[in-house]
Amino acid sequence: MEKKIYCGQINKEHINQEIIIYGWVDSYRNLGKLIFVNIKDREGIIQAVFYPQYKTAYDIAIILRNNFCVKIKGKIVERTKKNKNFNLLTGEIEIVVFNIFILNKSKSLPINNSLLNKEEVRLKYRYLDLKQKKMIKILKKRSIVINYIRNFLEKNNFLNIETPILTNSTPEGSRDYLVPSRIHKHNFYALPQSPQIFKQLLMIAGLDRYYQIAKCFRDEDLRSDRQPEFTQIDIEISFIKSEIFRFFIEKIISNIWKNVKNIFLDRFKVFTFKKSMKYFGTDKPDLRNKLKLIDLSNFFIKKNKNRIISISIKNKYLVNSKIKNLNKYISYIKKYKTNDLNIFKVDNNKLINILNTNDNFITNLNSEQIKNIIYKNDCHHNDIIFIGTEIVNDNISSMGYLLKKLGKDFNLIKNDEWHPLWVIDFPLFKKNKIGHFIPMNHPFTSPKKKFIDNIDFFLQKKPHEIISDSYDLVINGYEIGSGSLRINNYKIQKKIFNFLKINKIIQKKNFGFFLEALQFGTPPHLGIALGLDRLIMLLTNTNNIRDVIAFPKTTSANCLLTQSPNKIDFHLLKDLGLSLS
Ligand code: AMO
Repeated sequence: MEKKIYCGQINKEHINQEIIIYGWVDSYRNLGKLIFVNIKDREGIIQAVFYPQYKTAYDIAIILRNNFCVKIKGKIVERTKKNKNFNLLTGEIEIVVFNIFILNKSKSLPINNSLLNKEEVRLKYRYLDLKQKKMIKILKKRSIVINYIRNFLEKNNFLNIETPILTNSTPEGSRDYLVPSRIHKHNFYALPQSPQIFKQLLMIAGLDRYYQIAKCFRDEDLRSDRQPEFTQIDIEISFIKSEIFRFFIEKIISNIWKNVKNIFLDRFKVFTFKKSMKYFGTDKPDLRNKLKLIDLSNFFIKKNKNRIISISIKNKYLVNSKIKNLNKYISYIKKYKTNDLNIFKVDNNKLINILNTNDNFITNLNSEQIKNIIYKNDCHHNDIIFIGTEIVNDNISSMGYLLKKLGKDFNLIKNDEWHPLWVIDFPLFKKNKIGHFIPMNHPFTSPKKKFIDNIDFFLQKKPHEIISDSYDLVINGYEIGSGSLRINNYKIQKKIFNFLKINKIIQKKNFGFFLEALQFGTPPHLGIALGLDRLIMLLTNTNNIRDVIAFPKTTSANCLLTQSPNKIDFHLLKDLGLSLS
């Protein structure tokens, strides 16, 4: 196949060449003696000029309309000085058209890509929305990043191996998407929440370095960084320690930043989960934020185990308009199951209460406490201090949310800074809403050695103290990846299943094959899955995951283009042995 010349790539080097281009009409001006038509393709725009002496072409140009798909034969010429447009990459040349073929006409466009269109309309006509320069840029970057990662992994002996899409439930903590089986009536496949079990089976198979650009499916509440169908760069490796593996992943990420953004990242910081929760109130800290949580618990007699936390903002960062609006933080904090927030202004060595939800707290502050609060926060005259009781929920606390919000509102988070870090050593278990222990990650995560050595004791007496050999990659407050060392011992895996109260029948039915496989020389192995979509979000500076996926779903999991999900044909249901009643 010949190398394609794209409209947007033609330049002065092509002057006097006769070439063929393909593209879509972007705009046209009929000046009577001359017709100018901008022809656009994915790489950009070129100006085509039609002269009456090339009559057939000229006559066709008259009937061209927006978005007609055309093939043009012509000669590249330099534009006259006054016609040069230095804003366009191709602005110094134009193509004089000898021949034009209309390959297809177009209806008039329902969206105008030179304006801001509503997202619903953009998603409904996604194939037109994707013609936007911004969208093309994102998709190109996505392709480049995938290609880069593939090459890097292949060079390091990783094999790209596909795993099934029609499979059984994979326990990643969300609901499954189910697919009914026609042949086995009343039976269902589950779409994979991740290839977790399969990649571990590949390690057992001796395919010791695996990767896959894997589609995952999770039926969960959606957010601006979550899609029901998303892509992971899924990696698994045998015979290596976590630290070395983390460094390898760090290298991939740093090289991507260098190649795609021309930015050099420092070595990634490492925080234990405990430290991350302590200083930032979250396991996904945004280290760009200048604010920190200060633990004041020692200065108070506490009624419960919740910490008393302060966040202070220095006077130099305070903007008058925002100070006037501080009561919004009192309502904000209520969303996170606490009413307790007190806001003070430092007045020399005193604290002046500005707003509070807890009168007792204020009136009972003694001079020693006031001194300690000001000292611990390193505050000076006119600084502001927020003090509240911290409520922790699902690895983020009320004060962690407030830290994030204040950082954003007071412009203390710089958009052009990059702060990747590893959060390691997560607890193996957490409690769910009804107080049952569930895995913090997934049930195949290995505890650290000291806990494995005493697993019976810890499971029976101190399960909440067990720390896993696990790591999350966090960049600017986004969880970009998550991984761990895996349990490679059948007995330990069974003990974890038993502890999680996965009953024997389910163990056998859902994980019997896996428990059996673990008994066939399972090597020590570990891995990670990087969220490709989130990675591309960061690399393209968007906070909307839908921007980085060609055909995304809405936050209510609809595809506005294809109108899925959809009611199913009644006869098909019957065929599957299903009924709606
Ligand atoms: P985890 O469930 O943490 O781990 O997922 C790994 C990474 O995938 C991304 N991610 C998502 N991206 C978009 N939409 C979603 N709904 C979504 N859910 C997750 C995140 C996350 O860090 N099997 C394990 C990995 C392992 O242990 O190797 C797993 O799937 O960036």
